[in-house]
Amino acid sequence: MPDDAAPESRSARRRVPSAPSLLVTLDATRDEPLHHQVYADIRDAILSGRIAARSQLPSTRLLASELRISRTTVSLAFDQLRAEGFLEARERGGTFVAATIPDRVLSAGPHPPSRPSAQGRVAARSRPVSSVAAPSRRGAALASLTTPAMLHSGLQPRAFRTGVPALDAFPHAVWGQIAARLWRRAPRALLAYGVPNGYEPLRRAIADYLEVSRGARCTHEQVIIVGGSQEALYLAAQLLIEAGDTAWIENPGYQGARNALAAAGARIIGIPLDGEGLDLAQGLRLAPNARIAYITPSHQYPLGVTMTIGRRLAVLEWARRAGAWILEDDYDSEFRYTSRPLPSLQGLDAGKGDREARVIYVGSFSKTLFPSLRIGFLVVPSALVDAFAAARAVIDRQSPTVDQAVLAEFIVEGHFMRHLRRMRALYAE
Ligand SMILES: Cc1ncc(COP(=O)(O)O)c(C=O)c1O
Repeated sequence: MPDDAAPESRSARRRVPSAPSLLVTLDATRDEPLHHQVYADIRDAILSGRIAARSQLPSTRLLASELRISRTTVSLAFDQLRAEGFLEARERGGTFVAATIPDRVLSAGPHPPSRPSAQGRVAARSRPVSSVAAPSRRGAALASLTTPAMLHSGLQPRAFRTGVPALDAFPHAVWGQIAARLWRRAPRALLAYGVPNGYEPLRRAIADYLEVSRGARCTHEQVIIVGGSQEALYLAAQLLIEAGDTAWIENPGYQGARNALAAAGARIIGIPLDGEGLDLAQGLRLAPNARIAYITPSHQYPLGVTMTIGRRLAVLEWARRAGAWILEDDYDSEFRYTSRPLPSLQGLDAGKGDREARVIYVGSFSKTLFPSLRIGFLVVPSALVDAFAAARAVIDRQSPTVDQAVLAEFIVEGHFMRHLRRMRALYAE
């Protein structure tokens, strides 16, 4: 299984013993609402590793009856845990500890592995936050989404590493010449702050490329440059969904997308694939009220299925009827060896007019050029451009202008298409 694939298997699920007294200890004398005590005990149990990822929790009814509190109190705690990404509800099968809180992180986390005494726990909870070198609850949930491998080694090149291009075949010399030329001129605009949505010549070059190569229909104003697809997915999730909204992701699918959606508090439902791509009928059966669907239609990650044109139209039709968003991750469409790629969903969707658009298109130069460049882009409906640009400014203001300028020239002078042709031949071989 590739490094980033997130398989979900029913057999992997574990059950938490249904004895809530082992999970939650309530103290009615404490000046802390009961729902918060339930929330805090379950969260501590997850963070300390006492409940493993994917374990099933007792139902709110059972927990409430054994703790002798109202079901609403337990539901409030569960809602909060779901919104923060600790728990996931499955449409038919109860509530589970999120799969994206890896066991390794939990057992190595900042929380004590064994359960402190009730007195100790009360003291810890009332301790002023500033005296503890630990992140907030939101911070802990966010930090738990990244794997230790990512934190400590990155994804170093090695034979058969999935998703990393042939870095030794990158035309360093050409890239270096363009960079040197720009530095010699060193226009001040390249050194000053720029606009958050990106360097205009690059946005124009990308819009032209997408129109010709991906059948996309957009103006350069709809293109927003970001720090790779990961930032695009993070921004889209933050801007388009409310905590607790249901998100479809492909199963198996891309962990980076799952993480971005979990960070926004989505209730994540894995949807199986068939020979035509994401299985829409299964999606409608498992979670009919999804607010967003993350898909890789050109080249499904990690199975490689290409979504058929019929399925594309059906998914678009569903999104329009349901008022849902489609997050189209077109991370790898350039590398097809048997036939021309199918047009992007964005292009099919844009035919209906910008006001009805349901697709947020995500692209990246990580596969076509090199991943440390950290340049990717979004194509969003015109009405959302300002919101995306403003949110981008809050996170990290903008991408480095010099890199954007080198890339713009690299594309406009034809080096990008030439490099793609060379890489297709190399990879086909
Ligand atoms: C499905 C998918 N989307 C996007 C990306 C690219 O991510 P980024 O642009 O953040 O480097 C990858 C890289 O592995 C991927 O597998």
